[in-house]
Amino acid sequence: MTELAKVAHAMVAKGKGILAADESTGTIEKRFKGISLENVEQNRRAYRDMLFNTPKLGSYISGVILYDETIRQKGLDGAPFVELLAKNGILPGIKVDAGAKDMALCPGEKITEGLDGLAKRCQEYVKMGAKFTKWRAVITIGRDIPSAACIWANAHALARYAAICQATGLVPIVEPEVLMDGDHTIERCEEITEWTLNAVFDSLYNQRVSLEEMVLKPSMVISGSECSRQAGVKEVAERTLKVLKRAVPAAVPGIAFLSGGQSDELATAHLDAMNKLGGGPWALTFSYGRALQHASLHAWKGQTANVTGAQAALAHRSRMNGLAATGQYSGKAEAEYGKAA
Ligand code: 13P
Repeated sequence: MTELAKVAHAMVAKGKGILAADESTGTIEKRFKGISLENVEQNRRAYRDMLFNTPKLGSYISGVILYDETIRQKGLDGAPFVELLAKNGILPGIKVDAGAKDMALCPGEKITEGLDGLAKRCQEYVKMGAKFTKWRAVITIGRDIPSAACIWANAHALARYAAICQATGLVPIVEPEVLMDGDHTIERCEEITEWTLNAVFDSLYNQRVSLEEMVLKPSMVISGSECSRQAGVKEVAERTLKVLKRAVPAAVPGIAFLSGGQSDELATAHLDAMNKLGGGPWALTFSYGRALQHASLHAWKGQTANVTGAQAALAHRSRMNGLAATGQYSGKAEAEYGKAA
């Protein structure tokens, strides 16, 4: 196995998943607003310091995705975050896209930017200790969208990004997110997710990306958040697995889902249901941002006195998702924490 393939396998190791803590300064502002905390460097650093110092985090978390500011920061004890993570057996990763921007001539759709100068930035991140990268493409479902123009431009950018990362010695997380916003049905989400994944793997092939040395980070096939019929856990799991089996080659070592605005426990239940069904050739795990951090952020509230409780909340969600990654999650495991807390 190549070094990159080993890293990709470690990212989706049995019972472990990825913590997405790569919120840009603009996105973390939205999260901090929820706890009425000022979005300044000192608070962002204290927040990430709280998360990354969670005891036993490495038992459930294989890697953490960082933001450019964070990978350059030191924890409150003065040691760089990258070193702290490595000490806890956690692989440091880095978001390298420059964000999803309005796409020309495609109203209501986005194209992710950031390919210019990417090879050079990746070289710097390798020197800082990063082992993997992330690039998020966004596909919006609405009236007459997505367009083929949007799907293929985003797939092409994802593939160019993945090729550049592999050439620099980094494992790319390829993230095509079909947004859950809107009143579309689960059937429509299924159709668009299948189209998107087919375009992504076609583009990855054309750009000579090594499938053994990447991780796919897709959204699940779910009902639009405003849809009057909300599909149940079993249906979400079955439809998601069906699409993945059709579109994702067996050479890909692992699939790590995003949570995309699902509630914490639903994101866990969906992953668990897929692993209980099983039958796919790849590992199925999580790479959640909100669904891992939400409870912890709200327990923390920016107060040093709340650090222990906030870390317990992150450890709990990480453990529940670790169980879900092997199909061993249960309401009982979820409730035990409630009693202990
Ligand atoms: P969510 O799980 O909050 O969707 O975040 C995952 C992520 O990394 C989005 O790019």
